[in-house]
Amino acid sequence: MNIPANLGFTAEDIAKAVQRRDVIVVIDVLRCCSTIITALANTACEVIPTMTVKEACDLHQKNPELILAGERGGIKPKGFDLGNSPLDFSSQRVNGKSIVLTTTSGSKAIISSRNAEHVFIGALLNAKAVAEASLNVATQEKTGISLISAGTDGYFALEDFIGAGAIAQGFPARNVECSDTVLGALLAFQKARRSITKVLQSGCHARRLRSLGFEEDVRFCCRLNTSQTVPLFKDETIKPLANLSKG
Ligand code: MLT
Repeated sequence: MNIPANLGFTAEDIAKAVQRRDVIVVIDVLRCCSTIITALANTACEVIPTMTVKEACDLHQKNPELILAGERGGIKPKGFDLGNSPLDFSSQRVNGKSIVLTTTSGSKAIISSRNAEHVFIGALLNAKAVAEASLNVATQEKTGISLISAGTDGYFALEDFIGAGAIAQGFPARNVECSDTVLGALLAFQKARRSITKVLQSGCHARRLRSLGFEEDVRFCCRLNTSQTVPLFKDETIKPLANLSKG
């Protein structure tokens, strides 16, 4: 059976993907999903996404052992332990810890997908690994795959489009039937691949991050297939796929 793969950008696309019972891969290359992948790769126990700063603060107040992390306008909100810079989520800082994370677009797209049975977190860092994991589940469950671009403040984001293409590159052509948007992303990724950092640096959000002093974050998030960590969002929390059986 050929597995249909779609690429969506809006809340309506997420709702349709949930209705189709698709496996969802939420993509936010800069920086939410790259931060989640890095935190879990560095042995954080879990990442709990919230829609709002207030929800994150309330959760932290009830559970002060949580690391309170996130951003608004790219910047760490007042009183937070960490911002949204993946480089700050080192194993020394996050090993064995639970993190509550609220970001402008990424954590919202993740939470908006909560009614889907299978929600993976994808970025360039884990493109190949998340492609394999989502394809395995879609094959077992006989469903499609929806790649969901979180975008930036509701706008199309170049880095998520290229990230979707990088993930689609990991789908074997004989098994997966790509929509035109997925094919477009795949072509964009193949064109950008040789100079991916330079291409992504030209995007709007990367330029904004640079102006805020986060140039190193952009470079880090542009690394392709350096992580095998595949985060899965289930029951309001995100854990690495291999650890799920540990509860
Ligand atoms: C987001 O979720 O909107 C982004 O991760 C923003 C950022 O780069 O901090």
